[in-house]
Amino acid sequence: MIDIRDVTFYYYEPDESEANAGHRPVLSNVSLSIEPGEFVAFLGRNGSGKSSLSRLLNGIELPTQGTVLTLGRMTANRNDLQDIRRAVQIVFQNPENQQVGITVGEDIAFGLSNIGWPQEDITRRITWAIELVGLDADEDRPVTHLSGGEKQKLALAAVLALSPRCLILDEATSMLDPAARRQFIETLNKVRKEYPVTLIYITHHLEEVMDADRWFLFQGGKIAAAGTPAELELDSALLKECGVELPYYRQLAIQLRGHGVPVSAKLNGEELRGLLCKSD
Ligand SMILES: Nc1ncnc2c1ncn2[C@@H]1O[C@H](COP(=O)(O)OP(=O)(O)OP(=O)(O)O)[C@@H](O)[C@H]1O
Ligand SMILES: [Mg+2]
Repeated sequence: MIDIRDVTFYYYEPDESEANAGHRPVLSNVSLSIEPGEFVAFLGRNGSGKSSLSRLLNGIELPTQGTVLTLGRMTANRNDLQDIRRAVQIVFQNPENQQVGITVGEDIAFGLSNIGWPQEDITRRITWAIELVGLDADEDRPVTHLSGGEKQKLALAAVLALSPRCLILDEATSMLDPAARRQFIETLNKVRKEYPVTLIYITHHLEEVMDADRWFLFQGGKIAAAGTPAELELDSALLKECGVELPYYRQLAIQLRGHGVPVSAKLNGEELRGLLCKSD
């Protein structure tokens, strides 16, 4: 699905000038592959390169060195770029910046009419997308009347309408309050059952990615480690180095297991609460 080979990336071409002395690449020698249908998380400190890599995946940016292959096509190849951009869609953190229509329907229609869909198909697709994300709003509703959580559902609907093969959520929940965040995650889980998609999830909230297939830990523009949550959560020194903090219930579960308490490796917060309430 995605194959990144030896990618180094600078926003500005590096040169030998004094002003650029010590100028470091935003990403250096990054190689990784993501399989179709995988759910992966990009984790790491602010500025570690997560968003930059996601922009390289759909060709918004091109690598300074190395190659980015998406669906077997190279982003550096101009002829493939349009298909790649369509196949890899990104939802960003600020809903205000990604809405282009006055109404819900116009917003979803925008991308579809850009790629030449006929009007009657667009109308059907709008209904499909609104239902898929469970947006409780008809298509004539002004976007400005939506809550933050509803706006993010609309952003999700608008990109899903374009039939992406890969979806990147770049801190898509970071501006939502806890209740809206929970609802958005529920929506996403439901969407993934009905519309299987490769999911790249960027977040500072690890509770949102405990059931990911793999985590990639970013550190200073490099991938410090990649593995399943079950593998990486045990390496507390590595997590700390990468500025990544496990949810409290996972930290507690790991400690209990360390003390010989038989706690399942997949235990979630609610199960742990139940277990602790039962114990004397
Ligand atoms: N458009 C840009 N032009 C120049 N430098 C940029 C640009 N965007 C990001 N950078 C720099 O690239 C580096 C990596 O930034 P990036 O946004 O990829 O990190 P991130 O891991 O997504 O961080 P965060 O968790 O804060 O979103 C940082 O040093 C940042 O200042
Ligand atoms: Mg970012």
